[in-house]
Amino acid sequence: MADTVLITGGAGFIGRHLAQALLDRGDQVRVLDSLIEQVHPTRERPAELASDVELITGDVRDEAAVLRALKGVDKVVHLAAEVGVGQSMYAVARYTSVNDYGAAVLFQQLIDNPVERVVVASSMSIYGEGLYRTRDGELREDVVRGGRNPDGSWDPLDERGRPMLPVPTPETKGNGLKSVYAIGKFVQERLTLTLTKQYGMAGSALRLWNAYGPGQALSNPYTGVLAIFASRIANGQAPMVFEDGQQRRDFVHVRDVARAFLLALDAAAADGEVFNIGSGEERTVEEVARLQAAAMGRPDLTPEIAGKARAGDIRHCIPDLAKAQGVLGYRAREDFADGLAELAEWVARQEAEDRGVEARKELEMRGLVA
Ligand code: UD1
Repeated sequence: MADTVLITGGAGFIGRHLAQALLDRGDQVRVLDSLIEQVHPTRERPAELASDVELITGDVRDEAAVLRALKGVDKVVHLAAEVGVGQSMYAVARYTSVNDYGAAVLFQQLIDNPVERVVVASSMSIYGEGLYRTRDGELREDVVRGGRNPDGSWDPLDERGRPMLPVPTPETKGNGLKSVYAIGKFVQERLTLTLTKQYGMAGSALRLWNAYGPGQALSNPYTGVLAIFASRIANGQAPMVFEDGQQRRDFVHVRDVARAFLLALDAAAADGEVFNIGSGEERTVEEVARLQAAAMGRPDLTPEIAGKARAGDIRHCIPDLAKAQGVLGYRAREDFADGLAELAEWVARQEAEDRGVEARKELEMRGLVA
């Protein structure tokens, strides 16, 4: 049966793809979004937001706007958030207000206006460092990265000074909140699971890995490394890679992320659960920088290795996707090479203003790149 779904923050990158996927299967979609300047430079309705979506321009911290947005809604996807890890380490009040208090206002209104189900976008950042294995095969789940090792390497070391290897991180790993952003995502996740249960709604959280794809804000230099690299490459600049570029992530196409939300909105067994969502393929940041420059026709722009780390960043984290597969039936479908080609084609149609230098200055000024 068709549902009416409210997507908070739905004018953003993930929200627009999700809105389209919901419309395609016959649901009605309403979006509540404040169109912040960092993501929406003109503050206008984005052309890529499907025209059948009802847009309410408003802030998730504004009770009246939330109340209006909830009228007649069956299910909610909560995406509204500030999303830069490095930026969260100095814009503390703003991140805490939007991410923590914003979720609180949403749930305050949901108590009197309950829906069937709430799915929140949580994040791999909840884990801090992912799960590691020592050379002796022991698993370590409480790894805390120091700075750079005395020999110049970056991988976390065991007690005997030997580098450890990242292994897929399951949902059962404890949290290790390393940034204000991660703290906010944890709060959003816990509010969702605690209050949906208390008030008779179903609730789930998707811990997303690094989403990429067409539509990711090229104007926002604070997050989304592929969008950041894309604006540099489009402006003839080499991608600037933090640390030694060997940090590992899982890049998941935004259409796979949208599919994961559809599954979580439907599956009865998703209630009360958290799920890792990624592609199942791990890559180093340097590798993706090279692949992306090649996909954009500029293989000559070889990555510039900064040799410095960004505050709040973790070294490695890759997902164990067994639970998402087993409970939701989730499996990523998009191919990475095709995804990069599609992204390159989309970027070629945009005017990419490279604001990365500005963003790095902001971090450096505050001693947050070292
Ligand atoms: C973070 C969060 C993730 C969140 C996402 C969206 C963590 C561990 N992860 O991902 O949960 O959903 O942000 O905000 O907190 N990099 C460069 N050069 C650049 C920019 C980034 O080398 O110009 C590197 C970063 O140092 C990092 C990687 O690329 O190692 C990915 O960065 P980014 O896209 O910002 O996402 P994460 O920090 O991994």
